[in-house]
Amino acid sequence: MAHTICLIPGDGIGPEVTRAAQAVLEAAGVAIDWLTLPAGATAAEEYGDVLPAKTIEAIEHYRLALKGPVTTPVGKGFSSVNVQLRKRFALYAAVRPVRSMPGIKTRFENVEIVVIRENTEGLYSGIENEIVPGVVQSLKIATRPACERIARFAFKYARERERRKVTVFHKANIMKKSDGLFLECAQQAHAEMGQGITFQQLIIDNGCMQLVRDPTQFDVLLLENLYGDMISDLCAGLVGGLGVVPGANIGDDCAIFEAVHGSAPDIAGRGLANPLALIMSSVMMLNYIHELEAAERIKAAYNEILLEHNPENLTADIGGTGGTEDFVRAVIARL
Ligand code: NAI
Repeated sequence: MAHTICLIPGDGIGPEVTRAAQAVLEAAGVAIDWLTLPAGATAAEEYGDVLPAKTIEAIEHYRLALKGPVTTPVGKGFSSVNVQLRKRFALYAAVRPVRSMPGIKTRFENVEIVVIRENTEGLYSGIENEIVPGVVQSLKIATRPACERIARFAFKYARERERRKVTVFHKANIMKKSDGLFLECAQQAHAEMGQGITFQQLIIDNGCMQLVRDPTQFDVLLLENLYGDMISDLCAGLVGGLGVVPGANIGDDCAIFEAVHGSAPDIAGRGLANPLALIMSSVMMLNYIHELEAAERIKAAYNEILLEHNPENLTADIGGTGGTEDFVRAVIARL
């Protein structure tokens, strides 16, 4: 039976990389009925809404989506579609595996980190106001249920995948209440379900320094929303950039898979985007829907191409001279 999957092409490079991922999944022989749905700045132009009702209704029904990036205006305009989707469908865990990639030379080898980011609150609650002209405030929300839920998710994830260590980055020395609660819940989850797993807590400034000095000391990273957002990109930089880091937004009965990168307006529409991050996100999605064999084949295909390192098959961000379609063609040829 075919899987029905909602597909959100999104903005900027979104349509290019989602098209690429679709082609690869099709070539791998996975039976999928795609339901293409609008969201983002392009949806606003066409439907007068960045997140049209039909998109929400479809995800509500099918509980599974593959999503391209969407543009969010800086300092003005509509609020983030990503934040809306994550809150609306209680996709409380962003999971971003960051690994050294075959054939991609970076400063470090053997990086094997999974960033687990709380996805529904913190400063991303978007509660901001101007108290008097020239004085604004932004509230950082931390609730015990959400902090407990993500901490338990991280330890469950670590346990199921036999990971050895969970590290929490925080700033509870300054934000004693909000980050203090996040840290307390992580400690509690470790006590309850972290048998055999080392627990480490670092103040985030030190954590950043340690990450860029020796990322191999880290395994699972557990972070609140804003820190998780920033650290995901930092970690991507350790292994070859945003073109090679996938992601999933996971809730109890719904999931949206998307790369860590944004809509990359600087290269959009030119066939230059690296589709690998979204292809890797699609592999995570295939594992989620138990299409394990196809997932393994796709992974083997792109790893082979990376290892071979023929510049014509690779995009510029990972040292190639090719474009999006060259990479996709090479992956499909291996399938
Ligand atoms: P970005 O991730 O779009 O781009 C940062 C840099 O990485 C750019 O130089 C870009 O060309 C490069 N890059 C990103 N993805 C790439 C890929 N697949 N292949 C090759 N190069 C790639 O971040 P930026 O510029 O800060 O944000 C642009 C827009 O994307 C903003 O409106 C932002 O709000 C949005 N955004 C959306 C996300 C999502 O929908 N999940 C996540 C992050 C940002």
